[in-house]
Amino acid sequence: MTRKKVAILISGRGSNMSVLIEAAKAPDYPAEIVGVLSNRAAAPGLEIAQQHGIATASLAQSKFLSRDMFEDTMTQILESWEVDIVCLAGFMRILGEDFVNRWQGRMINIHPSLLPDYRGLDTHARVLADGGKVHGCTVHFVTPGLDEGPAILQVQVPVLPGDTPETLSARILIEEHRIYPEALRLLASGDLSADKVLN
Ligand code: GAR
Repeated sequence: MTRKKVAILISGRGSNMSVLIEAAKAPDYPAEIVGVLSNRAAAPGLEIAQQHGIATASLAQSKFLSRDMFEDTMTQILESWEVDIVCLAGFMRILGEDFVNRWQGRMINIHPSLLPDYRGLDTHARVLADGGKVHGCTVHFVTPGLDEGPAILQVQVPVLPGDTPETLSARILIEEHRIYPEALRLLASGDLSADKVLN
């Protein structure tokens, strides 16, 4: 079995990153995590990745003259790691079209909502403000439109009386941690044809 080389892009605590790293330790998992890249040097996930012996890099977009230059540098790092698949795991930057197109069919994201509902930020608070009864999370292919790409796996989570954004997000995070390793397994093993999903 040739394992696909995966880079994870993060901005923060990296709990989804951590479950992907753990999943990839299984000998029969079809992907290995070769690097973790953060757009924030202070992202706690970077230190976790380093403790696992994984290569890390951090790049602040503000240090670059343009988003293109920032993303070209990300591409150079990913290419130096010989990456096949990119997983966005709490990467809180909108990516430009050129970067997204370069990884079309090979870049996936986890989002805390039942896409296509509640794209963007603060999904838990918005669902509660709307009186929603069901919320959830989705792993999807990344396409140029924000949170618009085709879904790979999605799980519903009921909204309970008395839920706050914190309690709801904690229950959803448990499901995120179940479906992200499974979605990456599907993509990396070839069981999921990105071409069929995207065309
Ligand atoms: C996760 O809940 C993820 O779904 C969300 O950020 C959190 C990152 O947590 N992503 C987005 O909102 C992307 N639009 P983590 O760093 O512990 O994985």
